[in-house]
Amino acid sequence: MLSQEKLQKIDELKKKYPTTKALVLPVLWMMQEELGHISTEAMKYVASLLSVPYSHIFGVVTFYTMYQSKPIGKHHVEVCTNISCLLRGSGKIVNHLEKRLGMKMGETSKDMKWTLSEVECMGSCGTAPMFCIGEEYHENLTTEKVDKILDGLK
Ligand code: FES
Repeated sequence: MLSQEKLQKIDELKKKYPTTKALVLPVLWMMQEELGHISTEAMKYVASLLSVPYSHIFGVVTFYTMYQSKPIGKHHVEVCTNISCLLRGSGKIVNHLEKRLGMKMGETSKDMKWTLSEVECMGSCGTAPMFCIGEEYHENLTTEKVDKILDGLK
């Protein structure tokens, strides 16, 4: 399931950590990079590869919002709705995104172009409200700014 290059990297990492359990996060990240999401089959593969119980892998994948257990859209919009963002208008941003894209938080568009997710604090409280698309942070959001960002992604 993983490329030979990634398997070699995992072997190198194994030498640096006292247990294979410590490799769960980076290996899941590699899986997601390679496959786009981490399916049940992929979770079982990682469990076997690291000799860690499947239940542990499942728990990690379903706990952290950065891991996807289902296919997601080309543009994954992760909106922070934690306290600083909430106080500075994330609710308005969420409503605007849902209305503009015609979908609700937690959904993926039928054309697989968009996924909307609500996430906890992303450490950018000083520039709230914010969202992240892929690895890029967009901060001090207004509905006008959101429109410009989405227009730029078409
Ligand atoms: S509360 Fe939104 S980035 Fe911290």
